[in-house]
Amino acid sequence: MRRILHVAALLTVASAVHAQAPAQGKGKQGGSAGTESGWAAFQTRCMGCHGNAAVPAAPSPEQIRQMSPERIYAALTTGSMKTQGDALSEDQRRMLATFMSARPLGSLNEGAAQSMPNRCPSNPAMTDPSSGPSWNGWGVDTGNTRFQPAKGAGLTAAQVPNLKLKWAFGVPTGLSQYNQPTIVSGRVFLGTDTGYVYSLDAKTGCVYWSFQTKAAVRGALSVGAVKGKGSTKYGVFFGDFRTFVYGLDAQTGQQLWSTKADDHFIARITAAPIFHEGKVYVPVSSSEEFQAGNLDYPCCTSRGSVVAFDASNGERLWKTYVMDDPKPVRKNSKGVQLYAPAGGSVWNSPTIDTKLNAIYFGTGDAETEPAAKTSDAVMALDLKTGKELWHYQIQENDAFLGGCGGGVNKSDNCPTMPGPDLDIGNSPILKTLPDGKRVVLTAGKDGRVFALDPDKKGALLWMTNAAPPPPPGATGFARLGGIVWGGAADDRNVYYGLSSGGMSALKLTTGEKIWYTPLAKEGTRVNNAAAVSAIPGVAFVAGSDGVLHALSTADGKVIWEYNTARDFDTVNKVPAKGGAINSIGPTIVNGMLFIGSGYAVSGSNFGNVLLAFSLE
Ligand code: HEC
Repeated sequence: MRRILHVAALLTVASAVHAQAPAQGKGKQGGSAGTESGWAAFQTRCMGCHGNAAVPAAPSPEQIRQMSPERIYAALTTGSMKTQGDALSEDQRRMLATFMSARPLGSLNEGAAQSMPNRCPSNPAMTDPSSGPSWNGWGVDTGNTRFQPAKGAGLTAAQVPNLKLKWAFGVPTGLSQYNQPTIVSGRVFLGTDTGYVYSLDAKTGCVYWSFQTKAAVRGALSVGAVKGKGSTKYGVFFGDFRTFVYGLDAQTGQQLWSTKADDHFIARITAAPIFHEGKVYVPVSSSEEFQAGNLDYPCCTSRGSVVAFDASNGERLWKTYVMDDPKPVRKNSKGVQLYAPAGGSVWNSPTIDTKLNAIYFGTGDAETEPAAKTSDAVMALDLKTGKELWHYQIQENDAFLGGCGGGVNKSDNCPTMPGPDLDIGNSPILKTLPDGKRVVLTAGKDGRVFALDPDKKGALLWMTNAAPPPPPGATGFARLGGIVWGGAADDRNVYYGLSSGGMSALKLTTGEKIWYTPLAKEGTRVNNAAAVSAIPGVAFVAGSDGVLHALSTADGKVIWEYNTARDFDTVNKVPAKGGAINSIGPTIVNGMLFIGSGYAVSGSNFGNVLLAFSLE
């Protein structure tokens, strides 16, 4: 019963927190009256004082973001902001508290491992994460192929139909399970929207430790060796929605270091960092483009970037922005100074080319005109210095702001020609082909897949549209119909889930379409734009309906499916349910499969559960 109340009250909160996806939050943001986003509400109702030099006593938006949701809520209901709070509905007060603190109300203490009934009886010394079977970070390997070889998978195509739920873990007060579980040394490392990070035992789901961050943790965590930290051997690395980056002792959960990846108050870390040879590379995105069409907002100043840190001590080695420094351009019709260029969020986990010592990542759309040439692009940087090596743009002139109404100019902040909103949400896949040639694959929200030659500065090898043509009159995701969070590549093909539903397989050498399988249940629509994961012979993709599908890579036939959109009994006795699955894919390690469920990008299909499957 308690759970039901909690869920109903936080419906609007959920939508505010969800507004962090490159694509999938946006459709909703443009949405119906009464679903004002947290950011838009803060701009119109609070920024007249907060962030205004004329009211120095008012804490800055960045200072408010440091506060817990409970403190912001208290200020608006019983504290110094009661007058302002009285003008809002209860839903709006909760939404503002959640949006500004970037985590749900009630997340402060409830999530601690100490209070869980399933604590592990002991915490034996961790084995070397690089030796045993693992799915470490976003894409399993530095090439982000999302393909787990037979040895690491410990699961064959013939065994997949026999997978059974082994245990479930409920995230206390969680509303969006959008962190992909990392599995190393027989342990699960999991981030949550409540700001808690957990280490669990992969076999039983018992909890080793929890750690509370300052905001929500999306994407995935990365584990690697650290030096010079006493008895600490391995660290776990990740970033949060307020751009804090953390290094924790992977064995105990003790903080080794924490630092910030960006100073812009609306910047976020929404994707996984990648660990490589003692360094962590962190992608930075931003919530600025949602509703930045508001005339009171000095649009726009936030830029995507990638930042390199020393994994042992958090020292910043370099930071490279996707585009140049924003400069004043003109004043809008309300006299507010506008800036450009801005945009180019990095919504994906970078890929590392160990042969060329390069790092690749996809960028989001621009927020200002003219759109920078590095927006909606793959960028290649030198791994050591962060200097740009090349970029390949898949969509020109894509200046997009939420609230500009797709073609209809709503405010003088809006681009004169709003672009199609084609951010690249997927990590580049770096793959060596059987003949020794290499490809970097990237894909657009309109379904186009591009194969680039990393050894020829990103020259185009082939381009194919993996999505079937959109249905006539389609709007929203269905209009674009394509690829958001990315595919998985084995030695022959690449497999992509589609936001119009289903999965496509393309031949790596030529881009030829091998098969396409629709996955919507009769008479319904489904968004399968979540990331694909693969093992030999099987590609997995989940969807907005909560169903996880396993398809044979040979012919695209469905060999197994499991509906996660229901209630679960959990090992930690927390009421939990699955819901929509977006952005993340399953991780398959040592005969087990793990997936979080409940990322409701549109609708109320949210949840808070981590599921672990095995053959027993
Ligand atoms: C008329 C100006 C004004 C407006 C409008 C305003 N604030 Fe404030 N706010 C202030 C001032 C001044 C303070 C510092 C008050 C104090 O220290 O007693 C403050 C303090 C706060 C604090 C800190 C409370 C604490 O615990 O320290 C929060 C949180 C806050 N405001 C949130 C908001 C939100 C959310 C809105 C929009 C709904 C808002 N404010 C609108 C002027 C304003």
